[in-house]
Amino acid sequence: MSKRLIAASVLSADFAHLHRDVEMLNESETDYIHIDMMDGVFVPNISFGFPVCDAIYRHARKPMDFHLMIKDPTPYLERCIHSGAAIITVHYETCDHLHRTVTRIKALGAKAGVAVNPHLPVDHLNDVLPFVDLVLLMSVNPGFGGQKFIETTYQRVARLKENAGAVNPGLLIEVDGGVTDQNAGKLFESGADILVAGNFIFNAENPRYAISNLKKA
Ligand code: DX5
Ligand code: ZN
Repeated sequence: MSKRLIAASVLSADFAHLHRDVEMLNESETDYIHIDMMDGVFVPNISFGFPVCDAIYRHARKPMDFHLMIKDPTPYLERCIHSGAAIITVHYETCDHLHRTVTRIKALGAKAGVAVNPHLPVDHLNDVLPFVDLVLLMSVNPGFGGQKFIETTYQRVARLKENAGAVNPGLLIEVDGGVTDQNAGKLFESGADILVAGNFIFNAENPRYAISNLKKA
């Protein structure tokens, strides 16, 4: 059974009114505050760094879910914990020693996730499934909010769910990019547990209502 959780990405928040937007999330049904960190190397964009995460953490009353789109994220794991990370997800494509990095995240007390770009076959993850808490499937090419959802994601979720069945049945499957009320229901039914949404929430007339709609999609 899908857990039907929502992670709201502050990448689409109004950074000039970040406190207001974090309070809105506190009052909403979102389960996580999703933090997209980009380095301009692994992805062609730079988002924000730790001072902004610290500012969010000071006001957040929801757990923070860090998605590191940065080359060699390992030196920054402790800093993420300091900034409030309950989940730290690193990209498969950016870690030369993935097992070591994931082990370190767990030792620091956070849930450990591995993210993959839309073109990476999910079967490539089979050997890491036993030791991660979460897999994040990108449903757009990482780097920007507000992109169009890639339709092959449904099969990828279902395949990953099947692969995890025997080795890690408690694995959380997170889908990130282009999530709306049009695809959320089908994603949950395919086996996704957590849906990330930025644009759909923050550009809605009523963001709290948009979050409730995703949860019951
Ligand atoms: C993209 C980020 C996503 C993104 C989702 O690189 O990882 O978390 O902000 O945004 P939307 O929901 O706008 O596609
Ligand atoms: Zn993300």
